[in-house]
Amino acid sequence: MTTRRKIMVTSALPYANGELHLGHIMEQIQTDIWVRFQNLRGHECHYFCADDAHGTAITLKAEEQGISPQEHIENMHAAHLEVSQGFLIGHDNYYSTHSSENRELAEQIYTKLEANGHIAQRSIVQAFDPEKRLFLADRYIKGTCPKCKTDDQYGDNCEACGATYAPMDLIDPVSALTGATPVPKESEHFFFKLPEFSDFLKQWTRAGHLQDEVANKVAEWLDADLQEWDISRDAPYFGFEIPGHPNKYFYVWLDAPIGYIASLKNFADKNGIDWQEYWRPDSSAEVHHFIGKDIVNFHALFWPAMLHSANMRTPTKVNVHGFVTVNGKKMSKSRGTFINGQTYLKYLDPEYLRYYFAAKLTANVDDLDLNLDDFVQRVNSDLVGKVVNIASRTAKFVSKAGGELAPAPADAELWQRFVDASESIAAHYEARSFSKAMREIMALADAANEYIAAAAPWTLAKEPGHEQEVQDVCSLGINMFRALMIYLKPVLPELSKRAEDFLGETLDWSSAPGYRTGRINAFKPLLQRIDKDKVDAMIEASKEEAAEQAKPAATGPLADEPIADEIEFGDFAKVDMRVARIVKAQHVAGADKLLQLTLDVGGETRNVFSGIKAAYQPEDLEGRLTVMVANLKPRKMKFGLSEGMVLAAGPGGSEIYLLEPDSGSKPGQRVM
Ligand code: MSP
Ligand code: ZN
Repeated sequence: MTTRRKIMVTSALPYANGELHLGHIMEQIQTDIWVRFQNLRGHECHYFCADDAHGTAITLKAEEQGISPQEHIENMHAAHLEVSQGFLIGHDNYYSTHSSENRELAEQIYTKLEANGHIAQRSIVQAFDPEKRLFLADRYIKGTCPKCKTDDQYGDNCEACGATYAPMDLIDPVSALTGATPVPKESEHFFFKLPEFSDFLKQWTRAGHLQDEVANKVAEWLDADLQEWDISRDAPYFGFEIPGHPNKYFYVWLDAPIGYIASLKNFADKNGIDWQEYWRPDSSAEVHHFIGKDIVNFHALFWPAMLHSANMRTPTKVNVHGFVTVNGKKMSKSRGTFINGQTYLKYLDPEYLRYYFAAKLTANVDDLDLNLDDFVQRVNSDLVGKVVNIASRTAKFVSKAGGELAPAPADAELWQRFVDASESIAAHYEARSFSKAMREIMALADAANEYIAAAAPWTLAKEPGHEQEVQDVCSLGINMFRALMIYLKPVLPELSKRAEDFLGETLDWSSAPGYRTGRINAFKPLLQRIDKDKVDAMIEASKEEAAEQAKPAATGPLADEPIADEIEFGDFAKVDMRVARIVKAQHVAGADKLLQLTLDVGGETRNVFSGIKAAYQPEDLEGRLTVMVANLKPRKMKFGLSEGMVLAAGPGGSEIYLLEPDSGSKPGQRVM
């Protein structure tokens, strides 16, 4: 017997500021297949993930919706979990980095780094938005490229000429948040002394924890000399305060990977497991991370170095994958190929995509293309046309003969091929070469179909005296189908469940499949073909969602009151608006909404009753400039004659905002 491995697996923690799209889903499917495979082989394998809930982007997203960051991350957590479950991702725990476990662990680990002398402290100068009173990350600063003079470039590099620079080197830099000009501002920051781990990392990254191509890339960084890593951010920041340093917060990437452990700990505490079993320095358990190629530095440099400093074990493997493209191109909102998980699930069965990704996934870092025509063709031909077809062509003959399988394989050599494939397919799964596993499985399916076509039980069944032969051929058919369903179970858990109902057993893969005899149940259709129209509808819906998102929010001033019908310039010119000084403002006896204003419009005065009492005190208005409609027909009111109106914005009540011209304008000037 092989020993039972204890394995903890993670996929990267999705940011809580956006929906899960097919890129995230591919990663979770890759991880989930590997986890299911390990469990099916009898190992103890747990899968942990969480939302990455910290950082400035979260605060801004919450502000945009008028809710608290807390409420926003809770909404996203529910949405992410629903999509993951929709794709049959079997997380043991899907947690959040904004949790008490993660706070404690981050504090503990940081305290160790500090105690070990691995934290430096010094003052740095950064771009600061004086209006929002916030330090600006590079992506929140835009301006003109200092090199090629292209407008509207981000603070770190130019998309037009590829130049890299510091944000304050931009010509006319502006804050993308407020449009204000950022100012340089100094503040105290904390740094993790990564260069001290250079030797450790040179050894660690070559010790089999990384794919070769990833280790080569990382070696370039290691040769180019490491920089200290800035791990603090100033308040206001949505995250954890650094112990002992008020108003300083952990940078989101410091506590994010610790979130892997926090998710395990939250699960372990509830299930009577000791989380430290997985993380002490001498742990014999395995830790496997699955991540995309864009976040290798965090997982292959900072993370092992931090763990090493904190006297914890380092990951067994960091498994890196490439990016999902659709029809050969980067996912695009305008083409409708930026597909959210939620949208996919409205139109298509999750197992189609699980199979397609499995059929294309390799152990390397190449991008993975979802070609939509190939997707329809491959799933229909492999799953429906090959695998399910084996059962649907043979099951009815076994049922007709009483539902009992024959005691021995009709073609021992063919059956042996199915038995022998077990370890080689398992080795492909273990190595994450899922495409090789799928190819081997489909080659077996082809052999099974060829055998059945040649034996033609449907013809034999019409000729008397061949009952036993029909029974033997079809029993082998069912057994070959059964073996394939065992091998496909990590990829297709629902299809496997339906196959298990039909076979009347739970499929297990601790060893090569034995030849199954005895009763089976009536066969019901197992899988529908993909309808190409559904794929087209999904692309159409993705296009519409993207267009919808580009529109203004569903709540807010424009939604409450859409912009009025277009008018001719002449209609507008008829309205004579003038700058007016409020020389006097007073309460009106018996009126609870009105103030009486005396306006100077450049030598002449006007008396105006205005419904702004809930928003302004009369004494605050006197002396201010505003704008009035000067040629409005006077109106006789209960309290006297109103000779025009002043201009204000807002929904009413206490939310009224009087217009005020810029300083320098004079009463009587026309406003156009
Ligand atoms: N929050 C960080 C990860 C913290 S892990 C401690 C993050 N989040 S993310 O939402 O941007 O990405 C989550 C994962 O999805 C990453 O591994 C990333 O590489 C992966 N993908 C995002 N877009 C992708 C594709 N288009 N294709 C494949 N994977 C992609 O990074
Ligand atoms: Zn440029």
